[in-house]
Amino acid sequence: MEVRVFKNAGEIGAAAGKIICDFVNSKPDCVLGFATGASPVPTYDYMINQFNEGKVSFKDVTTFNLDEYCGLPADHKNSYFTFMKENLFSKVDIQSKNINFLDGNADEEQESKRYAEAIKAKGGIDIQILGIGRNGHIAFNEPSDEFTDEAWKVTLSQSTIDANSIYFDDTEMPRSAMTMGIGSIMRSKKIILIATGNSKAQAVKDMIKGPVTPHCPASILQQHNDTVILLDEAAASLL
Ligand code: F6R
Repeated sequence: MEVRVFKNAGEIGAAAGKIICDFVNSKPDCVLGFATGASPVPTYDYMINQFNEGKVSFKDVTTFNLDEYCGLPADHKNSYFTFMKENLFSKVDIQSKNINFLDGNADEEQESKRYAEAIKAKGGIDIQILGIGRNGHIAFNEPSDEFTDEAWKVTLSQSTIDANSIYFDDTEMPRSAMTMGIGSIMRSKKIILIATGNSKAQAVKDMIKGPVTPHCPASILQQHNDTVILLDEAAASLL
């Protein structure tokens, strides 16, 4: 794991965005894995700016997102698909036919198989962006007794419900989601994990310095051979 500490989220976004844009310019038909939530937004902003300045095009890029809530239609204002549309997809030239999302309302087994096959058919994910939960989750793989492999349907933990319910005003936050499994994430060729703020400091410490255990799912990244962890000073404060 390579750990880099920055002054603020904007600097992290520029660093992560540059890695991605440079890679897209070297391999225009690459496969990118995206996360939702606050952590990757400055990265997406950097990518949008580079696109607007004509420095990069995403027209041949294929994308896979990490997770989607169960029980919401894809076009619901709180779905992760809508989040991606608003924060990135509608602002760059990614083609909708190249966008892949888990369907939180599909049959779990069939959906898991479909997503695994789609990723495989594209030759795997070249760069996967991750955030980390306050409880050490990656995607929606919550702390548990075992590491998962392919996509599965997870019951969200209270910590995740507390953290994410701020985005739900008039809709009740779903209690379950379809998420890429730990195995699928670990098969990504490169991983960029972004964490900012004090609320992530303990999870970041457990991820980097703790034992590799499914009780801190992000700790598995210690076993990935090309992972870069981008932190602000607050998230790095317990290292
Ligand atoms: C979202 C996801 C989650 C978030 C994590 C951090 O697609 O997979 O693991 O990355 O919950 O969320 P933020 O960035 O909002 O703190």
